[in-house]
Amino acid sequence: METKKRFKVISIHYTTECNMNCPFCYKKRADKSEEKSLEFWYDLIPYASKLTNQIALGGGEPFINIDFIKKFGRVCKKNKVLLNITSNGKLLIPLSDREIKEIFKNITMVSLSFDKYKISSEQDLINYINLVKRIKRSTKTQIGSNLLVQDFDHSELVKIVNMLFKIGVDRVFALCPKNMPSDVLELKDAYTYLTLKYPNFYVDDLTQQILGENKYKDWCKECHYFKDIISINEKGFITGCSFDDESKALLKLEEPKDILKIKKIDGEKRFSCPYLIPKDIALKVQQLKSLKGGMKKDGNIKSEL
Ligand SMILES: C[S@@+](CC[C@H](N)C(=O)[O-])C[C@H]1O[C@@H](n2cnc3c(N)ncnc32)[C@H](O)[C@@H]1O
Ligand code: SF4
Repeated sequence: METKKRFKVISIHYTTECNMNCPFCYKKRADKSEEKSLEFWYDLIPYASKLTNQIALGGGEPFINIDFIKKFGRVCKKNKVLLNITSNGKLLIPLSDREIKEIFKNITMVSLSFDKYKISSEQDLINYINLVKRIKRSTKTQIGSNLLVQDFDHSELVKIVNMLFKIGVDRVFALCPKNMPSDVLELKDAYTYLTLKYPNFYVDDLTQQILGENKYKDWCKECHYFKDIISINEKGFITGCSFDDESKALLKLEEPKDILKIKKIDGEKRFSCPYLIPKDIALKVQQLKSLKGGMKKDGNIKSEL
């Protein structure tokens, strides 16, 4: 029987190196020389496995170093932790089915990101669909789709989710955009419809929190921060949320076994998300700014306003 561990997931960002440069990305490139060694991440897993049954590997782009992924997968398997990798998928496209089979041997799930930047042409969409089909055909790995819900209306969201399930993804995970305007409540009906239609349609914790409490801040219940997930960056800093920078770190890992010290640390409780920008607030700020820009020194608003 699986024992209950301290965290549902430990998220590891072993590198910030990436083959893309998405404008909304919250991961800033770090100096390679400051990153922990690859050995550090292998050695971390036996300790991490005492705290969780699941590692989520992100980046940067995890598949930037395929040899690392192969070995890391073997170490996770040996320590009986599930490995879920989030990827933009682009570096997998030119690989043969045989190579894909080999790489995915010990990967439980791959979450292929889907957003308007990564999928910006018909060819991008064709490549995405083919990749899903090839991973399905050549491996036993589950395929998720990380869908960034940015500037979608109701019917667009439903159409894309329908398409993703139709091409064979096992799970769609809708992400709320952070550090840029987002409008979760406007899509409430679409989220409800998709949740009822698809048992494997999920929303991220922030979307769930907003939908559950019907508001963007001052929630009654605290969010998931440090409750069931922690995030470790490329330098070994641990935060209660992947979006937190090092100034909010709860612990810095000097050696792999330091991760066990997290058991003695108490994280704050958060009742609002510091990275959420509700669209209506963003619009008001924009209006105020243009109003301010339109004011003459004497305080009169320009005639065209
Ligand atoms: C930082 S990326 C790293 C893994 C990989 N490079 C990728 O893009 O899938 C992890 C996930 O974070 C999402 N993401 C990046 N910036 C975001 C933001 N500002 N708000 C919400 N999700 C974001 C990406 O879409 C992706 O699904
Ligand atoms: S592919 Fe992923 S890590 Fe790279 S820039 Fe885009 S969101 Fe960030």
